[in-house]
Amino acid sequence: MKSLHNYIIPVLALALAACSQSGSQTDDIEKKIDHLLSQMTLEEKIGQLHQITSMGTLEDMCAQAKDGTIGSILNEIDPERINQIQCAAVEESRLGIPLLIARDVIHGYKTMFPIPLGQAATFDPAIVEEGARVSAAEASADGIRWTFSPMLDVARDPRWGRIAEGSGEDPYLTSVMGAAMVKGYQGTDLSNPASIAACAKHFVGYGAAEAGKDYNSTNIPMGQMRNVYLPPFLAAKEAGMQTFMSSFNDNDGIPATGNRWLLTDLLRDEWGFDGFVVTDWNSAGEMLNHGFCADMAEVAEKSMNAGIDMDMMAFAYTSQLADLLKAGKVKQSQIDNAVRNVLRVKYRLGLFENPYIDLSLRDSVMYAPTHLAAAKKAATESAVLLKNDKQVLPLSQNVKRVAVVGPMADAPQDQLGTWTFDGEKEKTITPLAALRQLEGVTVNYAPGVAYSRDRRTDGIAKAVAAARQSDVVLAFLGEEAILSGEAHSLADLNLQGAQRQLVAELAKTGKPLVLVVMAGRPLTIGDEVDKADAVMYMFHPGTMGGPAIADLLWGAANPSGKLPVTFPKMVGQVPVYYAHNNTGRPAYGTETLLHDIPLEAAQTSLGNTSYHLDAGFHPLFPFGYGLSYTTFEYGQPQLSASTLGEKDTLTVECQLTNTGRYEGTEVAQLYVRDHHGSVARPVKELKRFQRVSLQPGETKTVTFELPVEDLAFYGADLTKKVEPGQFSLWVSGDSQSGQPTAFAVE
Ligand code: GLC
Repeated sequence: MKSLHNYIIPVLALALAACSQSGSQTDDIEKKIDHLLSQMTLEEKIGQLHQITSMGTLEDMCAQAKDGTIGSILNEIDPERINQIQCAAVEESRLGIPLLIARDVIHGYKTMFPIPLGQAATFDPAIVEEGARVSAAEASADGIRWTFSPMLDVARDPRWGRIAEGSGEDPYLTSVMGAAMVKGYQGTDLSNPASIAACAKHFVGYGAAEAGKDYNSTNIPMGQMRNVYLPPFLAAKEAGMQTFMSSFNDNDGIPATGNRWLLTDLLRDEWGFDGFVVTDWNSAGEMLNHGFCADMAEVAEKSMNAGIDMDMMAFAYTSQLADLLKAGKVKQSQIDNAVRNVLRVKYRLGLFENPYIDLSLRDSVMYAPTHLAAAKKAATESAVLLKNDKQVLPLSQNVKRVAVVGPMADAPQDQLGTWTFDGEKEKTITPLAALRQLEGVTVNYAPGVAYSRDRRTDGIAKAVAAARQSDVVLAFLGEEAILSGEAHSLADLNLQGAQRQLVAELAKTGKPLVLVVMAGRPLTIGDEVDKADAVMYMFHPGTMGGPAIADLLWGAANPSGKLPVTFPKMVGQVPVYYAHNNTGRPAYGTETLLHDIPLEAAQTSLGNTSYHLDAGFHPLFPFGYGLSYTTFEYGQPQLSASTLGEKDTLTVECQLTNTGRYEGTEVAQLYVRDHHGSVARPVKELKRFQRVSLQPGETKTVTFELPVEDLAFYGADLTKKVEPGQFSLWVSGDSQSGQPTAFAVE
């Protein structure tokens, strides 16, 4: 199935083909840019570098468009207003340069897909690409041609609310999902009116915010930067990404928006990126707060000199660049280059030839049945089965009475998840609505807790009563959408409000208890998992979450999701992630826990290793973990060679058998360990994965192709290379299971 290279190579080929086949087209665009640039006044040039949010009156925005003093507008979604503003730019301004209309279309526009963390849990880049394609089709029908997505921030701290918006803790999984989204948004022809430019954000390292506090400083050393945080952005660039967004954080004291090494030396000179770079919302102006700039003149100067092309909402360029040019603080060539980059993307989008929206499209495009079907498929595949004792699931046909309880059973807005700007809760099908449509099933509904933060307990008795009248209890728990996403970090990851009391009281009934958790992040639900018979986790599943969970609970679908992020037992374990270094005293041997230690124990550290006495060696659930209604058995991996050279490709074959009684899909994962290096290497790194569907009793050979060059990393000298030595690999269903198979690189 598809691995990153399955994405990058074809997309790269497409990009190359686009260049070669239309090498003349590229030249043609450059000639048009040259011609246009030669006619532009300084004010018109600076206008192209200025992005505003939709504000003021329509007349105000039309006037600015006519004057050529804005290049892009975000958050305008009325297609008729967009056409009017665009008309002012194209037909009334001096040079007729079209505006670029932008919006945060992060996991759907009208049809909402699972939040990106949920999409990552599918380990299915094809469905992620389809989701981005659907998003582009719907958003472009309203005139949006640029989205601020995918978010490529590797995140290993669930306290950080924006972990919801990315693909989790792993650079490879984030790279594959990011490339798939770029392909989905931008399509094979960017000038197709149904294609939209994507944006690689937040460049870079934003997910490493200290203490998981949003906007906080990061302190990422160059080795980690190169080996962990940058790879997804490079993959996106290679997939044809048209724009990058600088992040809010300072890394080691340098805000990304003022970081010349990042935005010019690396992105332009080393990677050869030829799109344009936009700041995050006022991230330029926030360099004053960082104490990196003394005034707005320095903000504009440092932004331009770092390599920022477009200023989102700091008004730094529009207010300062002309004077800086006069004072010799910035060069005309810098301004011209920034304008070139912006115009290049506008030409590639076909905006000069086709600036207006065909208003007849939207009614047939929004919530199209195929879109809803794709969203349901994504939601179904995103569900991760964490526990299923006594095979409570799938529910048997003789379950006729179900208690449906919990604050997320009928929460149409919260089910959509964070960054839902234009999805409409009226279109959401909740679990309650879906379960009530089932023939022959009596639904006893009592939320027990009205919303996730609700601390009142007076509703719990009714929920318990509903449980007593039922054959099984389905408790829908989790987080309201607003508790994750931007500026919503948490220091406590337990279920909010009175949810824990609700679970405790439900468990006392002795009825089979199924928890379905809808959240924007991992939660520390260990106590609730212990009390339940089955637990299904759905990272805010979107519009079709209800039909998806109904199919899963009754076995019309078999869960196949895997965790894209480690679940801690308690927040004190954070950061906790699978691809950690071994340390000098790795946690193995006997797990001496807090209460195992004898009174007045003699002072010693001998025998103690790297773990928390009150949490033990392991997380609650590891990266890559997820159960099925069936069981799978992995054979011993067979390698094409046990010793390889740098230019070789290792072929790994492994038998995978469905040893249970349901057909199912397993995500087979290939992990590799480099045992020794010029720097300490992680104990495991995900290098490939595949979704493999099997009938009961069926065996398939899973084959992975792994070029040895994919084992390259940035070592002590910060150059990227494969270092010869001993390696191990695992083919398994999660990051903790399976037996190693050795091989060597010489
Ligand atoms: C926000 C976010 C960014 C978003 C931008 C525009 O502050 O950080 O992800 O794309 O502003 O809405």
